[in-house]
Amino acid sequence: MVAAVANPANSEAKARRLTIQVSEIAPDTTTLRSLDWDRDRFDIEFGLQNGTTYNSYIIRGEKIALVDTSHAKFRSLYLDTLKANIDPATIDYLVISHTEPDHSGLVSDILALAPNVTVVGTKVALQFLSDLIHQPFKQQILKNGDQIDLGKGHILQSVSAPNLHWPDTMLTYDYGTGVLFTCDVFGMHYCNEPTFDEDLKAIAPDYRFYYDCLMGPNARSVLAAMKRMDELPKIDIIANGHGPLLRYNVVELTGNYRKWSQDQTKGETTAVVCYVSDYGYSDRLSQAIAKGIIKTGVAVEMVDLKATDLQEVRELVSQASGVVLCTSPESHETAQTALSTIMGVAKEKQAFGIYEAFGGEDQSIDLLNNKFKDLGLTPAFPMIRVREQPHESTYQLCDEAGTDLGQLLKRKETIKQMKAIDAELDKALGRIAGGLYIITAAKGEVKSAMLASWVAQTSFKPLGLSIAVAKDRAIESLMHVGDRFVLNVLEEGNYTKLMQHFLKRFAPGADRFEGVKTQASTSGSPILTDALAFMECTVVSRMECSDHWIVYATADAGRVSKADALSATHHRKVGNHY
Ligand code: FEO
Repeated sequence: MVAAVANPANSEAKARRLTIQVSEIAPDTTTLRSLDWDRDRFDIEFGLQNGTTYNSYIIRGEKIALVDTSHAKFRSLYLDTLKANIDPATIDYLVISHTEPDHSGLVSDILALAPNVTVVGTKVALQFLSDLIHQPFKQQILKNGDQIDLGKGHILQSVSAPNLHWPDTMLTYDYGTGVLFTCDVFGMHYCNEPTFDEDLKAIAPDYRFYYDCLMGPNARSVLAAMKRMDELPKIDIIANGHGPLLRYNVVELTGNYRKWSQDQTKGETTAVVCYVSDYGYSDRLSQAIAKGIIKTGVAVEMVDLKATDLQEVRELVSQASGVVLCTSPESHETAQTALSTIMGVAKEKQAFGIYEAFGGEDQSIDLLNNKFKDLGLTPAFPMIRVREQPHESTYQLCDEAGTDLGQLLKRKETIKQMKAIDAELDKALGRIAGGLYIITAAKGEVKSAMLASWVAQTSFKPLGLSIAVAKDRAIESLMHVGDRFVLNVLEEGNYTKLMQHFLKRFAPGADRFEGVKTQASTSGSPILTDALAFMECTVVSRMECSDHWIVYATADAGRVSKADALSATHHRKVGNHY
């Protein structure tokens, strides 16, 4: 059964925008999917194109379990729908897969309706929840492999999955149905009517983007969790916390996680991102830095200093080529011991970066910065101080800082690779001529730009073009499917100023458009006034090609400023760089 219920509290115009869907997904198993059609911000994975969903599940054995709840914005809609399907007072177990508020936002409401419910989750999750809701409740800690028998064959088994993407994550497998409840893992921000993954092509870009933002920084933990999943019997359905559930493409989509994580962990160069998890901004900011590093092909180890033993910290830091240290007020005490360990093994030739979240004294971070420099480490990006609630631009800044660190670490490797190319082939490749373009894009409060030469018209109907964008370009995160950008064509004999400006190395988070004449396009992406022509484009698809993304886009509108002028061309001598 599938039912869509509109929120009566919403106006007519908005009625469709916050809905809930109820669907039977397996015997005795019902999903309540809160559909958030218009959500377009989600921290590090900002700029959602397709909204999101928060999926909750009821399992009816002889005992009843509720797996996760919903976002608080769905309070009345979710609770009314829950009551229509079950008497909440009869719920025996509330399974907490992960404590972020988009899934646990209504835990207090469930406790009020089901005072005898036992809340089950990992030790960290239950600790965090206790601090959050300030009221006593019955609880049961589940370790990896622990089981709860609901009766009627529904034996639930916990699969520990720490750091996917918070330290408290737990998956739950139901032996009675072959359903694996995964919350954030194998999810995507994609809101649509079908309960399942019927349209793989439609969901694939969002599935990948979500992995890159939230799971990629913890690729090693992904592989560890998947190893535990391998010990389970057949998984028929992945009942995730966001987007359509996986039923038709379970093998392919879970296989993607394995492949992407393997690719990321096999990088020869590694960086460690050391932080103290606060179940909030420090985690996300650290993930944003890690995401930026990964774009360069450097493998990342996320190290939660509160949860990693000192011997492991010592080994990871001593083996890494780059060290990022994130401090926060909460971290001071814990960090002191770990810090001495890090300082004891940090060495010359390593690159480092420091950020502080909500710290009070600039001195402590300055001191830390100087200590690293005194040890002979190279700063990869200027210290980052986050003083207020992070915005999209803060996450973008962290992402770009991570990329700077990754590029610094890869520099030697890149030069070696360039030298290894056959010289004649290199010269022949250099004869492929290109144009000179500036791509500009804006999403929310983040703007970026890039000088491009690998641009080609690719289709007539519709008018379409392709652009190769290196994976470590900041603008890459603004060129996902559905995003809009402007392609500015530079003019022959009149491009030096613009080219030199956009060729500059910008500091993380720097305004690329300072001192440049621009006009707004319909999408908000800047049009360069001094360019010869511009086209407003929409990204249709992306193809992964080793170190680049090939972005295919339709050209929706455009104009030329000088009828007789020619486009600038770009001739190279070799093909091993731009
Ligand atoms: Fe969907 Fe990490 O919460």
